[in-house]
Amino acid sequence: MKKKLVSVVLAAVMGMALLAGCGGGSAAPAEQPAEEKTEEAAEPAETAAEETAEAAGGELADKKVGVCIYQFADNFMTLFRGELERYLIEQGFAKENITIVDGANDQATQSGQIDNFISQGVDVLIINLVNSSSASTVTDKVVAANIPLVYINREPDEAEQQRWTDNNWNVCYVGCDARQSGTFQGEIIADLGLDAIDFNGNGKIDYIMIEGDPENIDAAYRTEYSVKALTDAGFEVNCLDDQVGMWDQVKGNELVNNSLSQYGNDVEVVFCNNDAMALGALQAIQSQGRTVGKDIYLVGVDALTEVVQYVISGEITGTVFNNHFAQADSAADAAINYLNGTGNEHNIQCDYTKVTAENAQEILDSLQ
Ligand code: GAL
Repeated sequence: MKKKLVSVVLAAVMGMALLAGCGGGSAAPAEQPAEEKTEEAAEPAETAAEETAEAAGGELADKKVGVCIYQFADNFMTLFRGELERYLIEQGFAKENITIVDGANDQATQSGQIDNFISQGVDVLIINLVNSSSASTVTDKVVAANIPLVYINREPDEAEQQRWTDNNWNVCYVGCDARQSGTFQGEIIADLGLDAIDFNGNGKIDYIMIEGDPENIDAAYRTEYSVKALTDAGFEVNCLDDQVGMWDQVKGNELVNNSLSQYGNDVEVVFCNNDAMALGALQAIQSQGRTVGKDIYLVGVDALTEVVQYVISGEITGTVFNNHFAQADSAADAAINYLNGTGNEHNIQCDYTKVTAENAQEILDSLQ
């Protein structure tokens, strides 16, 4: 089941990336596809993936991959790295040649790990930066060492991505456009209609916003676009509180507890930039005697299994599937493309999926 989903998703992702720079991320569009690359791009993803693995042949088993994760204690990145390792092995890498390290949310630690990977002579690096602003320094040293580089999850800014294009470096970013996830969150609420949401009868949607770590542009985009979807749909909105919960369940719980104590029944909607914080929010909502779907609504992003189960039971209004299968597999494919010399576009995007009670079971099945 999972394998099937991965193939389908991968086909969609590669198709999107190649057709349109996929979903219009904030980065500059990718450039100069060489002629053979364009031809290959037109092939179905599965065939292309099979061929790239074949082209690299048994050699992949000897290639060393260094993977830097910004923090292991992050639910979503745990799913991401699990899939990344599984898929790299499936493509022919040897488990002992894949080294995945924990940046422990500290850029100095991560920079040291990158230096170690460079001195060990890894063949390719996959990096989830701790601080997005460190991208240019990291890129410079990795490029100087002549190691291809795939950034994941925390998107370097436009100017940085422009350098990759201008210098024709083997550097790319793989991720999803977080504006889409924010829009989906807002639409899940908008689709309920004002009558169902406006418990205090002031004609507005009164909400609180729990934001992720500003080091990931996902936080700003989800915050902005969830509310924009409401105003675009013609609703008046009222922000009661906007706090930074750092993607963390415990912080999400504390912040929502505080907001609910302060604003009480006026809080009609709780937007969380991710599911971990939504789980914390749910505990706060329940401990204050409120009931999702009855006197308050709650949405997250990621589609963690537990959250999708709560969407099915009605305890969470909805979430947005942040496709770690597609992102991890595309990142691994990009690494393989560098190793076998085919190269990549500099910005490879994938799509989010809205999750409500209607499709939650289907999404849950695909996560198993
Ligand atoms: C986001 C994800 C969050 C967190 C963050 C880390 O895309 O939704 O849950 O993992 O990445 O940068």
